[in-house]
Amino acid sequence: MNIQLERVSKAYGQGDAQFWALRDVTFTASSGDFVSIVGPSGSGKSTMLHILGCLDQPTEGAVSVDGHPTTGLSDRQMSGIRRDHIGFVFQQYFLNQSMTTLQNVLLPLDLAGVKGGREKAAAALDVVGLGGRLRSYPTELSGGEQQRCAIARALANMPSLLLADEPTGSLDSKTGKNVLEMMVSLNQERDLGIVIVTHDEAVAQTADTTVHVLDGRIS
Ligand SMILES: Nc1ncnc2c1ncn2[C@@H]1O[C@H](COP(=O)(O)OP(=O)(O)OP(=O)(O)O)[C@@H](O)[C@H]1O
Ligand SMILES: [Mg+2]
Repeated sequence: MNIQLERVSKAYGQGDAQFWALRDVTFTASSGDFVSIVGPSGSGKSTMLHILGCLDQPTEGAVSVDGHPTTGLSDRQMSGIRRDHIGFVFQQYFLNQSMTTLQNVLLPLDLAGVKGGREKAAAALDVVGLGGRLRSYPTELSGGEQQRCAIARALANMPSLLLADEPTGSLDSKTGKNVLEMMVSLNQERDLGIVIVTHDEAVAQTADTTVHVLDGRIS
């Protein structure tokens, strides 16, 4: 499975206020890859990850999923692609505070009408080491545990690609290392493709390849 960006540019705003957050980016993410994206704040990393994750469409250029262009697809079709292929970990975790860890991971599976959701959710929480905390609420979890819950939610439907925006950004170095080691083993054992945005040079070097983003361009 692969997602390809071909000469992708993204503009926010219109007229005089128009700002090109991404310019002429060509990039492919495939199953089994482990890529890090690094660059200064505001350089376009999250924008690139959102387009890669089919959360947003480019202003110019083309995005293809397994060779099929996504241009002109409806929101419903885009969410179908996300449901079937992509796990996304947001820069802010976006856990629902009034739900337990199990409910948080189960929710998107239920919304997608996935069968056996409860078992899949519990299995994903087990993978991230939260198998014993199914009934805990986010406020009862440490920052690292909340981050791992967000990763479990992204992994629950067995995506081919995991896209993670600063997944270790708010963690202490030891917890960050644990989360990273978990990703390395998922990459190696399940052939999960991983694209990770990070400010941390040590985290970036864990990946097989690193892409640098500066002023919306990659080098
Ligand atoms: N919805 C939006 N509307 C207008 N401008 C936006 C929007 N989203 C992002 N931008 C701008 O686009 C540029 C790239 O933003 P982006 O979030 O991709 O940066 P980033 O590299 O992820 O930064 P950080 O490391 O701080 O998360 C920034 O200048 C930002 O202000
Ligand atoms: Mg960002």
